[in-house]
Parts: sequence; C-alpha cells; structure tokens
Amino acid sequence: KKVNVVIVGATGAVGVTIREILEERDFPVENLYLLASERSAGERVMFKGKSVRVENLADFDFSKADIGLFSAGGDISAEYAPKAAEAGCVVVDNTSHFRYDDDIPLVIAEVNPERIADYKNRGIIANPNCSTMQLLVALKPIQDDVGIEHINVCTYQAVSGSGHKAVEELASQTAELLNGRQATSKVYDKQIAFNVLPNIDAIQDNGYTKEEMKMVWETHKIFEDPSIGVSPTAVRVPVFYGHSEAVHIKTRVPLDAEQARFLLKNAEGVTVVDDMSKLDYATPVTHAGGKDDVFVSRIRQDVGMENGLAMWVVSDNVRKGAALNTVQIAEILVKNYL
Ligand code: A2P
Repeated sequence: KKVNVVIVGATGAVGVTIREILEERDFPVENLYLLASERSAGERVMFKGKSVRVENLADFDFSKADIGLFSAGGDISAEYAPKAAEAGCVVVDNTSHFRYDDDIPLVIAEVNPERIADYKNRGIIANPNCSTMQLLVALKPIQDDVGIEHINVCTYQAVSGSGHKAVEELASQTAELLNGRQATSKVYDKQIAFNVLPNIDAIQDNGYTKEEMKMVWETHKIFEDPSIGVSPTAVRVPVFYGHSEAVHIKTRVPLDAEQARFLLKNAEGVTVVDDMSKLDYATPVTHAGGKDDVFVSRIRQDVGMENGLAMWVVSDNVRKGAALNTVQIAEILVKNYL
C-alpha cells in the first residue's frame, strides 16, 4: 500500500532529514509534496531519483495527502495542522503546539506505539521534544522492569535543535573568533561558540525554562506516570549535531549496573557503548551523528544515593530526536491504521 505524503517545513533542518529518511527506509510513498514558505517555493530537490518542486504552504490543498509530517514551527502547526486533519490528512507534528493536549497522543515509536491509535481523536499525533526522546528510549526498559521514582537529567544540546540558522551561527561565530573578530549573535542571546548557555526556550514562572519543563511534562505523559519526579537542567553547547545527557535515576527497587546494562543491551533502539577500559563511550561526533540509535555509556551505580543509577545518553537530535521518530510513527500508521 502506498500513501501520499506531504512534508511541511521541507527546507528546514528536520524537514530535509525527514525526506532523506523516507528515501533511506523506502517508505511507501505514492506522491511526495514538499512545502515551505514563499521564499523557497520553486526550489527543486531530488527524491528517489526524481526532481520535486518545493511549493508554498499557503497554497496547498491538503486533501491531496494522506499523511502530513510537520516541522515548520509551532505557529505554522497551530494554523495548518487542524486544516490538514480536517481534509483527511493525518498529521505527525514535530512542534510542541499540541503535545500537552490530553486528546493528542504523544508517541515514541519504541516506547508507546500503542497510543498511535488515538490519532482518531483529532487527526494529529505529536512527536516529543528531542531531549525527552533519547531520555525515554534509554529509560523505558528500566521503567518496565523495576519502575523509576526520580530522574535527574542535565542536557548538552547541539545547535541543530534550533534549526539551520543556528548551525550557521555556530560556524560563523567560530570563524569570527578565530580570526580575531567579534562574534555576532542573532539566534542565541549570547555567544554560543566556545561557550555554554543554560537557557533553552522561554523561562517559566517557576524558574525553569520551557525546554526543561518539556522533559517533565512529556515524561509524565509518555510513561503515563505523573508520580515520577523529574529534575532537569537544559544547556546549549557548541556542538553541531547530537544531544548528550548526564542522567541520574532512583529506581523503585534496587537494580545494579550490570542488570541495567543487560536490559539496555536488549532494548529496541538502544546501543550500549560502555567499556571504559577500552575508552569505549559514545559522543555526538564519534557515535551519534547520522545514526538512528540512542547510545548509552558510563552505566554505573550512583555513589551518592541508594537505588541510584547513573548513565550517559547520546543521540542524533535531528534524526531520532525528530525526523526519524516522525517517520517511524508514519510507518506504523500506514501498516496498522490507514
Ligand atoms: P523556508 O526555508 O522557506 O523559510 P528550520 O527549523 O531549519 O529553521 O526550518 C524551518 C522550516 O519551516 C523551513 O522549511 C521553513 O521554510 C519553514 N517555514 C518557516 N516559516 C514558514 C511559513 N511562514 N510558511 C511555510 N513554511 C515556513
């Protein structure tokens, strides 16, 4: 069975990767429509050996598509996702706009694929935030086996999570600074090259940033367990692709590092890279970039807490963190529902 697919935000960091992954995984595409703003309309890109024209989103008739993969920002999704759904095009949305609505399923392919059935509520499925995505893929086997009481997570997030312009900003600032010039900041409020910024998305009334609160809200929703304590700090670092996370958890019953490693080795979507005697540990540059899996390293007993486990979790934020999970959801939709 083949379906008509539309990518909204097709020229962006995530949209381009979605197109590549559709081709790579031989997704059953009948027709592919690529939408962006007026600025990009008329550009041509290759898909499966054919040249496809980028069209203006504002002019598109969504009844031509069965599945819409949205990645053009929250405001665009707010306006166009309901229109698409209304026209019979099931939307998989990468923005945070619909994520916290009770009747919108929030799905990680390896964690809660059964929730995809709820697409029937409003014709929209939400894709989680990139930081939540890799965290929960890694924690799912532990949650299933012994239960998790508390999660403490500090992120080291790549600039690609803020889109194409941020990737360019890190590159240009690095060049500026190495040439003895001043760094110009447009995307970030402070210099990102050779620096770290503990400020991702809007600050909230409780002193946390929205990126941090996304990890709290999304963990509760996806694990369907609001009793899990989540203490996050989200930090932008001068890395192009791949988010890292230092994760400390308290399990409900004891689980030693060896057992945790065993569970993770058998988990779907996880690769364990963990032999410090051989300096075997994952980093964004050496392991995660361009790869599908979530990489877990440094699995160890927490020295400061009973029932505590610590680990290092790395993943390509644009792939598993966004584009790949979107395509995986679409694959399950086609296979089981449409
Ligand atoms: P365009 O390239 O025409 O601006 P990124 O996350 O890398 O910044 O990409 C954002 C994506 O969303 C791009 O494909 C961009 O298209 C698209 N986009 C942004 N604003 C609009 C808009 N008003 N209408 C349609 N697409 C938009």
